Amino acid sequence: MRSLNRLSALALIAGLGFGVMAAAPVLAEDVVAQAPANLQVIGTAQSPDKALTVNVMLTNDGNLAYEVKRKGDTVIAPSRLGFILTDVPKLDRNFALDKVETSSFDQTWEQPWGERRYIRDNHNELRVTVVQTRYENRKMTVVFRLFDDGVGFRYEFPDQPQLKQLNITDELTEFAVAQSATAWWDVAGEWNREEYLYSKTPLKEVSEAQTPMTIKTDKGLYLAFHEAALVDYPATWLRRVEGQRLKTRLAPSSVGPNVQRAAPFPTPWRTMIITDNAPALYMSNIELNLNEPNKLGDVSWVKPYKYVGICWEMHLGTATWEAGPKHGATTANAKKYIDFAAQNGFRGVLVEGWNEGWDDWFATGFNFKFDKPYPDFDLKGLSEYAAKKGVHLVGHHETGGNAAIYEDRIEARNALYQKYGVDSVKTGYVADAGGARVHGPDGVSTHLTWNDSQEMVRHFQKVVETAAKYHIAIDAHEPIKDTGLRRTYPNFVSREGQRGQEYNAWGSPPNPPEHEANLIFTRMLSGPMDFTPGVLSLQGNGKEIQATLAKELALYVALYSPIQMAADLPENLAKYPKQMQFIKDVPTDWTESLMINGEPGDYATIARKDRHSDDWYVGAVGDENAHALDLPLAFLDKGRTYTAQIYRDGDKAGYTGDARFDMVIETKIVTAADTLSLQLAPGGGQAIRLVAGKAPKAAKVKKARK
Ligand code: NOJ
Ligand code: CA
Repeated sequence: MRSLNRLSALALIAGLGFGVMAAAPVLAEDVVAQAPANLQVIGTAQSPDKALTVNVMLTNDGNLAYEVKRKGDTVIAPSRLGFILTDVPKLDRNFALDKVETSSFDQTWEQPWGERRYIRDNHNELRVTVVQTRYENRKMTVVFRLFDDGVGFRYEFPDQPQLKQLNITDELTEFAVAQSATAWWDVAGEWNREEYLYSKTPLKEVSEAQTPMTIKTDKGLYLAFHEAALVDYPATWLRRVEGQRLKTRLAPSSVGPNVQRAAPFPTPWRTMIITDNAPALYMSNIELNLNEPNKLGDVSWVKPYKYVGICWEMHLGTATWEAGPKHGATTANAKKYIDFAAQNGFRGVLVEGWNEGWDDWFATGFNFKFDKPYPDFDLKGLSEYAAKKGVHLVGHHETGGNAAIYEDRIEARNALYQKYGVDSVKTGYVADAGGARVHGPDGVSTHLTWNDSQEMVRHFQKVVETAAKYHIAIDAHEPIKDTGLRRTYPNFVSREGQRGQEYNAWGSPPNPPEHEANLIFTRMLSGPMDFTPGVLSLQGNGKEIQATLAKELALYVALYSPIQMAADLPENLAKYPKQMQFIKDVPTDWTESLMINGEPGDYATIARKDRHSDDWYVGAVGDENAHALDLPLAFLDKGRTYTAQIYRDGDKAGYTGDARFDMVIETKIVTAADTLSLQLAPGGGQAIRLVAGKAPKAAKVKKARK
């Protein structure tokens, strides 16, 4: 009997992928067919609309697993859960059920700023606690939250004397995708961190992917894998083990186990958005709902804004960060930007290269003096000049990846900026993967680490919490990936974390026309991106930007960020007064955001309602092909007329040469009953402002009664 049990358990383990399988790509579907009979379901829950079901299971050997079904179809076949520890037996096998708890939650909360004002968090929770009787009754809980549009789950390590410290070398969490699928993904664990172009391949050809990674199954289901609330734990990547089975891989530590943390604590949430159309994927709020509420209290000091700055000219090579004849951050140049900002309604002026240390900065950062301006930059005088004109300097703390040096006097660095009225800071970590530098436990020694290791996750946390004390907002470039922490720390306003506009200056290759349509369905699912649109000259360093002028405008709506740059040089922006009107008008804070249509890597149309007026804005972006898209205006108030100010591709527009500038600006009177037809040129886009006319009488009466 015993040996029989052993045998069936072994077969099961192979089926689950717990053992090594033959190399042929076996679809998880085949696995599903044989696995369930051998698994004992120990906990189950459904999403509020009952479409999604999660089963938590144990094998005969006490391995913990879970599966996800949607409307009866298996989406995630039985997949492994657990951990390998470095100093004590693994949290895997030998589990028995301790207890199962379920609960429901339905509340709506408000974002201080964001892509939408109100967010409903409606989920059912399943908590399964398992115990390893063989190892001093060590316990672990796995918590699932089921939303109508996806699932999040995390592990909790309780306070228990027999497992006080978790030294984790490997997280065993797997996602065995049950239906054959296509993936949009970028590679993880490579030297250039998050800044890789996206590939579209069969899922079974993915190697190791960053998250969010998006897939579409042959049955038309869309899934996006990511994580939420990444706190004091390394970021995870997804490694394809075989077939369509993915496994978490923790960003490595260079000083021992990948996770070193005292219990009790929860891991970040592992998330899967699961929808039957691409726009619904984009509309999901799972990421934010799985983060803790605002911990900063009154954050009215966090301001969404638009900005210009001394930056693009360095990327073009016409100015330098370091001192010398071409130094960009001079007092005179900064005044020019401040004047331009004041004239055109930009709140912020970013100045890069104002502080000493830029002569040898890439991947070292040792020379940066965060409090010492170059002699040709008058920080005090300029902050006064800006203040008089109602403009705020945007601070810049490039570290060259040297988080250790930056942390040394982090309070002083924030205090200095606060003194000069700087209330937001762009940080930077330009160093190859594995080349970030942090302090050892003694607080003095330093060592190199992975840019998204647990140590760097802690660093970003420290930066954001410290900045909050000085009422400073953070926009991190070369950041730790976004996992929705802006809910908890609303001063973490934006990040880079993928290829931004700068690649159009010097990238080899530059961003292709489909790049933004890829970003929207991958990187943007994690949160705002400081892409820095607004290069209206459509000119990089010796190369053309492969986009139309209309698309460049559309990016302000299509790529969400509460801070948006107009990255081009003031003299270039001034050459396009009509297009500049859209950039001046477009807000960066919204009451609601809707994706009207879209497909990953092809096109997307997004409509957003201004937080401070009744106007709506639309941004549509395409790829290298032309697209004809319907835009039903049903989202507008019924019975109200709107003036549509349309910035569209001309008939001859395209993404090379002069065709990029072929653009038509026109107005139309429209209502909610109308449908606009958008014609996107190859590499094109369209931007629309819908100016609300007088509110219909009925609506007024209703308001008055309230
Ligand atoms: C890379 C950032 O993405 C870019 O915006 C910045 O100009 C440079 N680093 C220098 O800090
Ligand atoms: Ca960058």
